[in-house]
Amino acid sequence: MKTTAVYPGSFDPPTNGHLDIIERSSRMFARVIVAVALNIRKNVLYTPAERVGMLRELTSRWKNVEVDSFGGLLVDYARKREARVLVRGLRAISDFEYEFQMAHMNKKLAPEIDTVMLMTGEKHSYISSNIVKEIAMFGGRIDDLVPPAVRDSVFKKMKGARRR
Ligand code: PNS
Repeated sequence: MKTTAVYPGSFDPPTNGHLDIIERSSRMFARVIVAVALNIRKNVLYTPAERVGMLRELTSRWKNVEVDSFGGLLVDYARKREARVLVRGLRAISDFEYEFQMAHMNKKLAPEIDTVMLMTGEKHSYISSNIVKEIAMFGGRIDDLVPPAVRDSVFKKMKGARRR
């Protein structure tokens, strides 16, 4: 069976940890749709279109990976795209409670869809988009945390934000 998986998230900005999960899921599933959430209750640095654009560039080397955005319920989007699997990355035990709740809730809403958790690679296990933004805000090095294009873009955005 050719399984389509959706990998949803805020991706504000995409990190090396996200790319690790995308690469590994692209080897496991026939098609992976990286889905940028439109309505998130977070302070974001990037517009959804910017996040989609960055992810498209970063994932262009994997031919079975597509990047899209979605609003509303994740399971409704997954059904629309005929996906049977939701992929989430688990960094540490602290992620578990939230992921556990979300996986069970999504299963209740859409019993035919399964959540697959991938353990984030060891060297990415402490990276989060929020930490990347915080370090960049105070001028710290984010070179090992995000791809070079994202690093440059985050610093450019931060400069713009400080000028305003
Ligand atoms: O990268 P994030 O911010 O942890 O991703 C969270 C996300 C976007 C996957 C989650 O908030 C989500 O699925 N939002 C869509 C609305 C929805 O379906 N909510 C119910 C989840 S149980």
